[in-house]
Amino acid sequence: MIHGGARRGRRRVRPLVMGVALVLAMTAGAAMIAGKGTASETAAAAAGAAAPGSPEAIASRLSAMLQSARAVISKHQAEINDPALGDKHLGADVVIAEATANYKAKTGEDPESYPPDSRQGRLIRAQMDAIRDVMDNAQDEINKEGVAFKGFIPATFARLVNESFAERVKGDAHIKVTAPPELVRNRKARPDDWEKQVIAGKFRDPAWARGAPFAEVVAGDGGGKAFRMAVPEYYAASCLSCHGSPKGSIDITGYPREGAAEGDLSSVISITLAEP
Ligand code: HEC
Repeated sequence: MIHGGARRGRRRVRPLVMGVALVLAMTAGAAMIAGKGTASETAAAAAGAAAPGSPEAIASRLSAMLQSARAVISKHQAEINDPALGDKHLGADVVIAEATANYKAKTGEDPESYPPDSRQGRLIRAQMDAIRDVMDNAQDEINKEGVAFKGFIPATFARLVNESFAERVKGDAHIKVTAPPELVRNRKARPDDWEKQVIAGKFRDPAWARGAPFAEVVAGDGGGKAFRMAVPEYYAASCLSCHGSPKGSIDITGYPREGAAEGDLSSVISITLAEP
C-alpha cells in the first residue's frame, strides 16, 4: 500500500455557525427542481454563477479539480493493477493533461486562465503541483512488475494530493475527503463536528437536492473566521466491488465491505478557506 508522508494535524474549525448560509445550495436545488440537468451539472452551474474569486467559486473549483484528477486514476485503474505491465506511462504530465481535460469538460474553464496572482489561480496551481508531486512519488510503486494490486486507488491518491496541498498552502486552505462516520476506512478521513452536522442535517435530509453543496462561514481557530464548503458524492456501480455487498465481506484491499448501494451518499469533499 502506498501511504502518505508525515501525518499532519487536521485544521480544527469550531463548528460555531455564524449564520451566513449561502444561497449556493439553494440555487442548485432550485435548478434541480426545475429539471435542469444532473446534480453535478447544477452544482457546477451554481459554482459558475458564484462571483469569480469568491470563496464559493474558489472552493467549488478546487473540488472540481480534485474530482477531475481522481477520475484519471479511476480510468487507469486496470493498467495500474496489471502485474504484466511495467511502465504505466502515467506520469505527472499525463495525469495533469487528462485532469485538465476533465476539468474543462466539467467547468467550461481552463485552470491556466486563472491569474497566478489571484487566490483562485494560486490555490489551483498549488493543487496541481500537489497532483504532480503525488504522481512523481508514486512512479516506482505503480510501475512495479509482477504486483497486481498496489494500493494506488482514487481514494488514496486524493488523500495524498490533499496532504501535499495542505503543506503548500498552510493557513490559507485545506481540502479533505471525508465520509459518514460508519463509512470511514482511514482514520484520517473521519468527519469533524461540522462535517458530521452537514452530513446528518443536510445531505441525509430527503429534501436535500442531490449533489447540491452546502457552505457557510464558521468561527475558525484563534478567533478568525473560515469559509467551509461540503460537496456530497454518491456511490457509482464501479465502487461496489469494494464498498458494496455482502456487508462485512473482505474486499481486494483488505477492508470489510460497507454494504453500500449505487446512489447512496458515499463521501464529502470538505474545503476550508481562511477568511481574510
Ligand atoms: C479497489 C477497491 C475500491 C474501490 C473500487 C473504491 N474504493 Fe473507496 N476506498 C477503498 C479503500 C482501500 C479506501 C481507504 C483508503 C485509505 O486508506 O486512505 C477507500 C476509501 C474511500 C473513501 C474515504 C473514506 C476513508 O476512510 O478514506 C471514500 C469516501 C470512498 N472510498 C468512496 C469510494 C467511491 C465513491 C468509489 C467509487 C467511485 C470507491 N470508493 C471505489 C477501496 C475502494
